[in-house]
Amino acid sequence: MERITVGFLGCGNIGCGVYKLLETYGEEIFRNEGVAFDVKKILVRSLGKKRSWNIPAHLLTDHPDEVLDDPEIAVVMEFMGGEEPASSYMIRALEGGKTVVTANKMALASNWNAIVSAAREHGAGLYYEASVCGAIPVIRAINDSLQANRITSVMGIINGTTNYILSRMSQEGAAYEDVLADAQKLGLAEPDPTADVEGYDAAYKLSILSTLAFHRHVPVECIYREGITGITPLDVQCGKEFGLTLKLLGVAKEEDGKIQARVHPTFVRSSHPLAGVSDAFNAVYVNGHACGEMMFYGRGAGDMPTASALVSDLIKAAHTKRHPLPAVNDVPCEIAEDWSCVHFVRMKAKDEPGVLALVSGQFAQYGVSISSMVQKGDRDADGYVQVIFLTHEASERAVRSALAALPAEKVCIGSIIRVEGE
Ligand code: HSE
Repeated sequence: MERITVGFLGCGNIGCGVYKLLETYGEEIFRNEGVAFDVKKILVRSLGKKRSWNIPAHLLTDHPDEVLDDPEIAVVMEFMGGEEPASSYMIRALEGGKTVVTANKMALASNWNAIVSAAREHGAGLYYEASVCGAIPVIRAINDSLQANRITSVMGIINGTTNYILSRMSQEGAAYEDVLADAQKLGLAEPDPTADVEGYDAAYKLSILSTLAFHRHVPVECIYREGITGITPLDVQCGKEFGLTLKLLGVAKEEDGKIQARVHPTFVRSSHPLAGVSDAFNAVYVNGHACGEMMFYGRGAGDMPTASALVSDLIKAAHTKRHPLPAVNDVPCEIAEDWSCVHFVRMKAKDEPGVLALVSGQFAQYGVSISSMVQKGDRDADGYVQVIFLTHEASERAVRSALAALPAEKVCIGSIIRVEGE
């Protein structure tokens, strides 16, 4: 029988979820896995705070040293959130030879090299399944099950809050602001929703996923990012009429030695497996040269789904004699600054002779081929109509250059949305 002493950094909802899972399912884990975990100390900001699970008061401390410097504590589980002091504490733990299990995508993506180097230099374990898509075992799959593949693309719905908002906008034709307000009332969106709706949360996750998939560090600062705040019900509705479903996707592809890594609102064909992923669910769609396409689907957030991944990492760490490091080489990653895809372009165009010829002439000049076009609704009071173009696959730079050159008094661009998963 093996007993492992564990310390926690943080005890919010996730920490309480981990404690609860160990307390309520620890005996079964012991029977099944032959390992038991004793939580010795838990670092918290406020000793007196009311928590979602009953944590014995004697375990709580507000001194990080009681976790980080205790030689009995072999594994430090981090769920403080935020970049600091979480990153510094994790590095200290690793430097002390302790295994770190973390759910913190922001700390990990922002300080990848420093955290991985500390693990490497001190032979310490670093486990982070919970940092990307909560309960979904996608990190484990990429690291441990798909090593025989050259992964060519990873596309995912990796933020549940935005998927909930876009799903409801699509189902109900509702406006972004109304659904966001509802999601905040239900506790599905934060009071300050910026990290989710502007794509920062997804960018941290995509940095970790693409680094592991392509074996080169893809820094979070290199990820193109665009959020969902500008999405209108009209975009969602027009997309539907073209057989498209709108999602906030993290897209990473390796093409011609360059890596594209981007987070933005994306239309997928309504028949694509990602289109059916609704509400707050997450899914990651991976393409490998040997395995072909596969999709991982499940709950990407919440106390118990996240605790599931954290405790699974804890068990894995306990069973591992020589901790694995991420299979990432030192070759610098070349980030693509342009990419090709189908583009959905919605514009208000003056309803008069020659305007559509002007638009199609611009597209032609930049080598952008039009796949379909519809005019929506009636002319407004100023004489404009909504026109939507779907291009064939075209370089983003070419599409934007073509549109930028159109005269403002004739054409006003409403939205440019990429289409993936053709
Ligand atoms: N806020 C995230 C989401 C969960 O909505 O998916 C934590 O990354």
